[in-house]
Amino acid sequence: MSQKKTIDIVALYPQINQIKNADLRNAVIAVWQALWDQSSWSDPAQIPTSSEISYPNLPHTQCVVTLCLSMADALEHHHGTPINRDYLIAGAVLQDASKVVEYAPGPEGKAIKSAIGRQFPHGFWCAHLAIEKGIPYEICHVMLTHSSSAAQFPSTLEGKILYFADQLDVIAIHGDRWKKHLLIGKQS
Ligand SMILES: [Fe+2]
Repeated sequence: MSQKKTIDIVALYPQINQIKNADLRNAVIAVWQALWDQSSWSDPAQIPTSSEISYPNLPHTQCVVTLCLSMADALEHHHGTPINRDYLIAGAVLQDASKVVEYAPGPEGKAIKSAIGRQFPHGFWCAHLAIEKGIPYEICHVMLTHSSSAAQFPSTLEGKILYFADQLDVIAIHGDRWKKHLLIGKQS
């Protein structure tokens, strides 16, 4: 078995240094490190974006983090929209971190779903570690609701920014999956 490579999370996601709250910054690094310690991959660059998208997750998530901050910059610059950047950066950096344990290297190097990936919803494993390490529920909500497979739509602006950044990046790296559904609903 190949020697597991050490991982420098901040080198992969330098925007972590922009998280103002030091406890949160350290907790985000600790969650990523704990996931990496539990994973059976030797190189983070080998992990795919998903079962359907073979493009590596690393540049996908790096671009998602960049997109999130660019959207936050535009909204703050033009409208003065208040955005919790600590929550946004933490949620974006952690959005797909659980993929390192949801997938495992299979035969011929092709990724296969692990027991964690088969038995829990995407993001669950990262969220439970995040809660253990004291990361606020609001950030776990941003992280857990980013996926179109999530049971809930994000309820906060930080969550919605991440949701759309992720979906836009998937269009860029994979292809357009958007479908329009016309719905008539009651405002609650
Ligand atoms: Fe994801």
